[in-house]
Amino acid sequence: MMISDDTVSAKKPISRCCFIFAFLFFSSQNAVVSSPPFDTPVARPLKKLDKHVVLLISTDGFRFGYHFKTNLPNIHRLIANGTEAETGLIPVFPTVTYPNHYSMVTGLYPAYHGIINNRFVDPKTGHVFTMASHEPEWWLGEPLWETVVKQGLKAATSIWPGSEVRKGSWDCPKGFCQHYNASVPVDDDVRVDTILSYFDLPSSDIPSFITIHFDDPDPQGHQVGPDDSLITEAVVNIDRLIGRFIDGFEKRGVFEDVTMIMVGDHGMVGTCDKKLIVLDDLAPWIKIPSGWVQNYNTLLAIKPPSGRDAKDVVAKINQGLRSGKVENGKHLKVYLKENLPSRLHYADSDRIPPIIGLVDEGFKVEQKKSEGKECGGAHGYDNAFFSMRSIFIGHGPMFSRGRKVPSFENVEIYNLISSILGVKAAPNNGSDEFASKVLLPRK
Ligand SMILES: *[C@@H]1O[C@H](CO)[C@@H](O)[C@H](O)[C@H]1NC(C)=O
Ligand SMILES: *[C@@H]1O[C@H](CO)[C@@H](O)[C@H](O)[C@H]1NC(C)=O
Ligand SMILES: *[C@@H]1O[C@H](CO)[C@@H](O)[C@H](O)[C@H]1NC(C)=O
Ligand SMILES: [Zn+2]
Repeated sequence: MMISDDTVSAKKPISRCCFIFAFLFFSSQNAVVSSPPFDTPVARPLKKLDKHVVLLISTDGFRFGYHFKTNLPNIHRLIANGTEAETGLIPVFPTVTYPNHYSMVTGLYPAYHGIINNRFVDPKTGHVFTMASHEPEWWLGEPLWETVVKQGLKAATSIWPGSEVRKGSWDCPKGFCQHYNASVPVDDDVRVDTILSYFDLPSSDIPSFITIHFDDPDPQGHQVGPDDSLITEAVVNIDRLIGRFIDGFEKRGVFEDVTMIMVGDHGMVGTCDKKLIVLDDLAPWIKIPSGWVQNYNTLLAIKPPSGRDAKDVVAKINQGLRSGKVENGKHLKVYLKENLPSRLHYADSDRIPPIIGLVDEGFKVEQKKSEGKECGGAHGYDNAFFSMRSIFIGHGPMFSRGRKVPSFENVEIYNLISSILGVKAAPNNGSDEFASKVLLPRK
């Protein structure tokens, strides 16, 4: 059978009887997803629920590959009987938490949903967006909870970025929209149990779309980098929480009915303080005061004052970086945002500062040479780095069992979930065909 390079076939053998069917399937689809469903050719009927329910679970900084660190029976149960992105889920750029979580639920690249970084400045008002900003004017696009509620279904959210924002038809209903409160420790077991309790409600009150975001294993990744036993422990705990969902669903007889989608927002890569690019080292070519810099670290963002020509600033910075005289200079490339590679989709918003620097994997930008610290981990880099990938696992009536699909960008998730729920998607940057290629057709 001819299989193109980016095609991933099902792991289990295809019996002889199904070969012709598989061949027809291959020839009728394009190369994006070509593995044949080897269990049922159509979506499995619901047994107990009277509608599709999607539970979207995100685990922060769950780098692709963490699920091979140790024995994780619950995650591997979902993989064995579900559909997995075989080489991981591709985050949007920049590969940080808020832009990515909001891309998954809107299907939009950050330039279009407005959350272009975890922290940024609105150039018109000078106001600063932070992860605590809940004013609706920051949050553009239509998140899934809004799409769902607008079309007469119910939704529930648990500390997913943007879900506390009251916008459109979404009023963040009490009891169905858990807020983050910095003065109260988050108890993940309680959050899981709250979601499970929705399945004890009368059928019409069970939310059709539910999101939950777990903070781990991101903090551990920053602290010690991706290759440490602390990560393994954190991942074991995530697996335990997934198991708590599975057990709760099985107890209620709805495990095969509920669609569980497990994702992460970005990966993690090891960093060390000898891998620094220091802006003060550029002084012989151009002085960059900290007041111009809106982001350091894994993504450099600069807004020169009005009157300074951004193009000239870029030229002088790159001259310095390429001189061979700036330590690690060759590991930073600075662009006018409109000249960034178009695959990053990181230009079409006035919230994106005019000058953006792409940093090589594992390197970081700082203003001054910092005091030596321990090595740790970071993310935020170009989404083309494999280390920035996370996971995608879909388990439920419309996902084939044991199927592998090629990697895809997380902006596809909005259309995918809209399609499972049968709601009309708002305009977005996902592709129209994606859902029908990944999901089993309805009967
Ligand atoms: C996969 O699903 C089948 C059919 O429901 C079930 O018999 C099997 O135990 C499941 N496998 C795992 C690993 O859960
Ligand atoms: C956060 O929790 C504290 C302690 O329970 C409570 O006093 C406070 O009102 C809560 N804040 C919000 C915004 O709900
Ligand atoms: C992304 O989607 C928005 C909303 O439909 C649209 O305005 C924008 O042009 C799209 N961008 C790309 C790169 O497809
Ligand atoms: Zn992080």
